[in-house]
Amino acid sequence: MNHRLTVDIAGVTLKNPIMPASGTFGSGKEYAAFVDLNRLGAIVVKGVASRPWPGNPPPRLAETASGMLNSVGLQNAGVMAFLAEDLPFLKQFDTKIIVNICGHSLAEYLEVALALSDAPVDLLELNISCPNVSEGGMAFGTNRQMVEQVVSAVKKHARQPLIVKLSPNVTDIVEIARAAESAGADGLSLINTLLGMKIDVHRRKPILANGAGGLSGPAIKPVAIRMVYQTARAVQIPIIGMGGVMTGEDAVEFLLAGASAVAVGTANFHNPTATVDVLQGLEAYMETYGIEDVNALRGFLFRKGR
Ligand SMILES: Cc1cc2nc3c(=O)[nH]c(=O)nc-3n(C[C@H](O)[C@H](O)[C@H](O)COP(=O)(O)O)c2cc1C
Repeated sequence: MNHRLTVDIAGVTLKNPIMPASGTFGSGKEYAAFVDLNRLGAIVVKGVASRPWPGNPPPRLAETASGMLNSVGLQNAGVMAFLAEDLPFLKQFDTKIIVNICGHSLAEYLEVALALSDAPVDLLELNISCPNVSEGGMAFGTNRQMVEQVVSAVKKHARQPLIVKLSPNVTDIVEIARAAESAGADGLSLINTLLGMKIDVHRRKPILANGAGGLSGPAIKPVAIRMVYQTARAVQIPIIGMGGVMTGEDAVEFLLAGASAVAVGTANFHNPTATVDVLQGLEAYMETYGIEDVNALRGFLFRKGR
């Protein structure tokens, strides 16, 4: 059987729908010893800012039931270092490159998009979970007006198609998804981490130095599936689904809920070959059920007549 695995994201053809989630795969280099990067549909690099960000103080990781909390704080070496060191490495592989961009202000987001405009990068992924310093640190992605503002500004200057990565820390994900789409987003990715906290009862202090952090891993998958399902019914643009994917069947769940592609995040820390294992699991599922084209799975739940 000839499984068709190719998917289209905003006019970019991926050889298959599986990719790492931003921030859980470094720049790809860290995983190249474990995974043949040529096998992945895309590589999504960790958040890149206009200048180096130092990140938060340790401890910044904590294990939780079926997941983890992190307050890494988007530590990164800045867009110039990305262009000089990471991009030439990634260009050796036959895969698409998605750059996740972050900023504390509109100006910072724009600086990154402009610095990447002539770079051989296939897609931009706009992380709108970053704190907006001019709004007292409120995340861009939690307010409809701020989403419209940042998405339309970056879209105006970006050379590559723009995927907007949504924060789940909102009351109505559909309202935010529609705001991103109407401001010009070419695709959406969801979900980012859920805000959480863990307390050391013996020290009577938060475990993370920062207090709160982002919850990820299998614990968040039902929330992610629900949000992808709601969003896919409300927008026309493609969706990259993520949140707790550990197996091929988890990836299938996201496709059935309406995602066009799926990212594997926290699983990489537990199993460095998780991305290719998920891909193989997806192929095995397609074999078992005689699915000739992976696109036939997308949005199966809400197709007419179901
Ligand atoms: C340690 C860590 C770092 C992350 N860094 C980023 C980042 O730089 N940009 C971003 O948009 N999301 C970042 N994320 C969120 C993931 O890309 C993903 O959306 C989230 O973890 C849910 O997927 P998962 O449950 O498979 O990990 C990070 C997550 C973790 C655990």
